[in-house]
Amino acid sequence: MKNIVLVGFMGSGKTEIAKALAHDTGKEYVSVDNLIEIREDKLISDIFRDEGEEYFRTVEREVVKEVSAKLDQVIDTGGGVVLNRQNMKDLRRTGVVICLWADVDAIYDRTKEYAHRPLLEVDDPRKMIRELLEYRRPYYKKANYHIDTTGLDLTIVLDRVKNIMRNRLEGRQGRGRGLEENTVLWGYFSERLLQNIKYPVMLVDNEGQVVFVNKKYLTAFSLLENDIMNRSWINGIIPESARGDAWKINKEMKRKNRLFKFDMPVVASGVSGKYISWLVVPIKEEKTVFYMFVGREKEDPVDSSAKSHTLSSKELHAAHLEMMGILFDAGMRSEPWVAEHSARVKTFAASLAKKIKLSKVKTERLKVAALLHDIGKLGVEESILFKKEQLTKNEFRQMKMHSYWGAEMARLIYFLRKTIPIIVNHHENFDGSGYPKGRKGWRIPLEARILSIADIYEALTADRPYREKFSIDEAVAIMENEKGHKIDPRLTDIFLDMVRKGVF
Ligand code: S3P
Repeated sequence: MKNIVLVGFMGSGKTEIAKALAHDTGKEYVSVDNLIEIREDKLISDIFRDEGEEYFRTVEREVVKEVSAKLDQVIDTGGGVVLNRQNMKDLRRTGVVICLWADVDAIYDRTKEYAHRPLLEVDDPRKMIRELLEYRRPYYKKANYHIDTTGLDLTIVLDRVKNIMRNRLEGRQGRGRGLEENTVLWGYFSERLLQNIKYPVMLVDNEGQVVFVNKKYLTAFSLLENDIMNRSWINGIIPESARGDAWKINKEMKRKNRLFKFDMPVVASGVSGKYISWLVVPIKEEKTVFYMFVGREKEDPVDSSAKSHTLSSKELHAAHLEMMGILFDAGMRSEPWVAEHSARVKTFAASLAKKIKLSKVKTERLKVAALLHDIGKLGVEESILFKKEQLTKNEFRQMKMHSYWGAEMARLIYFLRKTIPIIVNHHENFDGSGYPKGRKGWRIPLEARILSIADIYEALTADRPYREKFSIDEAVAIMENEKGHKIDPRLTDIFLDMVRKGVF
């Protein structure tokens, strides 16, 4: 039988899981790091110190080649194994590669006790962890499955690994896949976003199994994660009398596959008689669909059945706005001024769009993107976000990730998808000096060019804790100077003309 291969960052729990799995399955436990130490007759930290990382990676490559030539093992790898393409190829050829993920804080907590990780023996290990994680993220994506272990008990992680193996053995890959098969993006930006939502949130896979719940959910229903994770959402929290209705709703939700609303009574350990109104949105990740449920408690329960709502197009629109409001609210907790900033950017962008007669549909999309353009800042560490001094090159690299995170969120939530090109490009500069891609001129979507002008103008004319706002005249002068550099000259002329005429 194929190997089971655990990859993942230091402190993600690979060794514990691999050992438990080997014990439970009767397969042989093999650790790449142990084999390296045996071969070199030295501790890893001594190899790093005496021979350096490059040498270590060469030995690591040889060991991976050897272990992946055999079958029927549980292979525990070092965090850097993924960096070598050939390693991943070999491991995938003879094994199922499962990546364990965790966010920076979790990894920091789990690794701070031990001094045996040479890469983390630096003045600021937390910073190092963040940088390495960021850099390695695409490499970890090459695994077959991903499990975010942040905040999870090892028993749950083990359960999930076993689920994966079971599903694979039963050849169920096409259906009912868990979140763990997703990209590692669930690792921290999404986690933070969902935790920040002030209502109970659960993510359910297309077989109705719960793959994520936020803390609000656990407190609202007095549940422990173990009570609900990997179980059917219906059996978990719905009173028996309403389950039949709930299954019907579940079916309807899958058939419709768009934003959806329903009400239902809830019972869970210690709580009953709560009546919850759920807003459900499908989340598409590659070919897999999940459903995100956001629940609000209803004051006036009508009866004890579960009821779905058929939404008219007007109600659907209102539900979209409601969902966006919830996400916006959750995302705006990064910097205190972001909410106000985004609202003003939206006004400026919409005025410029109107002036140049952008179509109604595109203007609406631009307004949504303007509101959400900075939501990805939630994925940036606060010490960087609030740093008053100039950012170092690495810190700036992380800061720049915010346009990417924002776009990732829009990628998951289908009714926001068309805002992706606007959000991801809002820091591109007209002369090609921006990020993430360094796109130039007309290659930057028009709406993103509009957003960038509105964004800069807003930033210049608002106070920040580290500087006072510029006067309108100063802001105009600065923007005149940026014409053709940061911002589109033609659009800027039109915009500044409006400013001079006192439109805002
Ligand atoms: C490394 C992780 C370590 C070990 C070496 C390098 C890395 O293994 O291989 O220190 O580059 O991430 P663990 O992930 O088991 O700590």
